[in-house]
Amino acid sequence: MIKHLPPMGWNTWNTFAEKINEELVLQSADALVSSGLKEAGYEYVVVDDCWALRERGKDGRLVPDPEKFPHGMKYVADYIHGKGLKFGMYSCCGTMTCAAYPASYNREFLDAKTFAEWGVDFLKYDYCFKPSGAEGPLLYRRMGLALASCGRDILFSGCSWGADKTHEWIGSTGANMWRSTGDIFDSWESLKSLILQQYDILPFGGQGCFNDMDMLIVGMKGKGNVGVKGCTADEYRLHFAAWCLLESPLMIGCDIRSMDEETKNILTNPVLIGIDQDARCNRPYIIRFAGNDDYPVIVRNLANGDVAVGFFNLSDKPAHLWVAEDDLGVPFLQGKTLTGEEAYTGKKLRAINATLSVTLPAHACEVYRMKLTDL
Ligand code: GLA
Repeated sequence: MIKHLPPMGWNTWNTFAEKINEELVLQSADALVSSGLKEAGYEYVVVDDCWALRERGKDGRLVPDPEKFPHGMKYVADYIHGKGLKFGMYSCCGTMTCAAYPASYNREFLDAKTFAEWGVDFLKYDYCFKPSGAEGPLLYRRMGLALASCGRDILFSGCSWGADKTHEWIGSTGANMWRSTGDIFDSWESLKSLILQQYDILPFGGQGCFNDMDMLIVGMKGKGNVGVKGCTADEYRLHFAAWCLLESPLMIGCDIRSMDEETKNILTNPVLIGIDQDARCNRPYIIRFAGNDDYPVIVRNLANGDVAVGFFNLSDKPAHLWVAEDDLGVPFLQGKTLTGEEAYTGKKLRAINATLSVTLPAHACEVYRMKLTDL
């Protein structure tokens, strides 16, 4: 059964794009297990675009490129399942995928059947090359129906980049997650812009259809397909923390076969993953410190009564941020307060004068999982 929490896994696109093959995918499945990522919750191994031949077979079916995947996709699926993991693949609602491989327009039911026969557990579904006049919502509902009736439990991962007001119709398609933005790149500017784009769509994610802020760039360090100039350690920490507080799916995009300790520590942070995967799936809310978009305090009420509070400094200068406990629903006059520890460092935080405050370097964050206690 599909777990109804933000999906977690690894995807080929960010680092490898068209340079994918069976060996890479199997090695990455191995690395997911041996590195402890699987234990931390990452379960899907997803082959993104560029896996197929440029033409369909005589029977109309998609054909895996035999040079890249010499044993076919069922073999890959079996191997991944043998490791206790799940297998994801990629197609697109238009006539071609974004990298111009055959896509599922007018072949939705056949393709869903093929994916089911191969043992696929997850389908990422892109938005390129839609024929003119074809409506995105209709095409997504079609694939949603095809997947729901294909005889296998396949998670539907919509990837329409927030286009055509995706948030208004995606919930009707059967998608379990939906991309709310354009593609991520491995740079601070990209990260910041993806976070800012969330402010107006916070109510539209959540259980059943999670808002996917795109695959993670943590640990890419400027290498690979979407590698630009890379980010600092503080920026990667802020990136992961924001995705977790905003309840995004967590799909790793770096080369996990060679990631360093710092990358692994970010990606497996138990406090942040616990917030992302909180069973209650409450939506986050944002208090903009001083009304400034560069200073979001992102808050989520968690299932056990804890409150996750993340202070983010998106500006280019150090900043001092604070929030009144009253604004978090914690009334001083009823004798209540919050205390907690920072997710990455363990630093303690308690209120002074019913106010929580932190000082942050540029492009940095602090996230506290806070307990409600009596004063
Ligand atoms: C689009 C998607 C990316 C990736 C590529 C593949 O750009 O948004 O995540 O899947 O297509 O071509």
